Amino acid sequence: EKGGYPSFMLKEIAEQPRAVADTLLGRIGPEGTLTLDEIRIPARELREIDKVVIVACGTAFHSGLIAKYAIEHWTRLPCEVELASEFRYRDPILDARSLTVAISQSGETMDTLMALRHAREQGSRVLAICNTNGSTIPRESDAVLYTHAGPEIAVASTKAFLTQLVACYLVALYLAQARGNKDPEGIRSVIRDLAGVPGAIERVLAGMEPVRELARSLADQDTVLFLGRHVGYPVALEGALKLKELAYMHAEGFAAGELKHGPIALVDRGLPVVVVVPSPQGEPLLHGKIVSNIQEIRARGARTVVIAQEGDTEVVPYADHLISVPATPALLQPLVTTVPLQVFACALATARGNEVDQPRNLAKSVTVE
Ligand code: M6R
Repeated sequence: EKGGYPSFMLKEIAEQPRAVADTLLGRIGPEGTLTLDEIRIPARELREIDKVVIVACGTAFHSGLIAKYAIEHWTRLPCEVELASEFRYRDPILDARSLTVAISQSGETMDTLMALRHAREQGSRVLAICNTNGSTIPRESDAVLYTHAGPEIAVASTKAFLTQLVACYLVALYLAQARGNKDPEGIRSVIRDLAGVPGAIERVLAGMEPVRELARSLADQDTVLFLGRHVGYPVALEGALKLKELAYMHAEGFAAGELKHGPIALVDRGLPVVVVVPSPQGEPLLHGKIVSNIQEIRARGARTVVIAQEGDTEVVPYADHLISVPATPALLQPLVTTVPLQVFACALATARGNEVDQPRNLAKSVTVE
């Protein structure tokens, strides 16, 4: 049932190009058009929405953090993202013009379900992004966009995360088209670029041996830090979460701009720091800033593991280990930069003798508080 792989997690990591392709299937047309019939909210009502609120837990929350950048950029709608466990006990300001998006692989996470009910009670419309047909969260939502990752057995989420991201991008692009965007050709071009993502993930997967080797060499470390900016920041959080749950190591993700506000004090000789670098063309300003951050931590002795776009020569002098990923539009970059972090965590956990499919203390679906 593991299809020849030593673990479900490795199988599910390898299945990501297919999972992403399946989630796009039938939803994007050749001309950069979108067909999302599942979003049963009429176009007139979509135009009236004045705010998007995303609620989720764990890895699904990280996909929501990335979605915020895309939604605000493409739709100009304000977007808040909140941990469902916090949102459900707050007094959120929502009404019939709000769209609440609940993201959940299982569709059964108690906090996310309660957050969704809380949003409905305030009159908000609710859209679920979910991987499990007929589960509770979609049943209680006004509409559902299913991710087509197939069953995810390993406790650590991998292919479900990438497909959640795809679904978030589709919702953002759909809203942009329904509400009108000042650059419709730009929107169509991103939709066309999405079609190339499965191939890009294939290429990342084909070059993972150095990442596994690096992971094995770090098996005795106590701490790994992850840094990112823009959409790379939630990717850093996701890389750290994967390492915690699989390798049982101290791992933290930071926004690189926060370094001088505290975290740089942690940097000491030999500390591995993974840095997710934005595209030099797509985000030139941020690219320059992160290159300075890499220099700063390296000057303090960090062992830098740099994930950067192919052809990014500027980072080379400061990268102790360079992991290259194919070029994508800036907002789509998490679809390729997350993959090496999954492989890294899985290999490091294995090198430490951990069982990767069933990490200690964790359940696949958290149906209690
Ligand atoms: O089923 P859900 O997407 O609602 O689950 C949310 C989290 O429990 C889940 O993503 C968890 O953080 C994973 N173990 C992360 O790998």
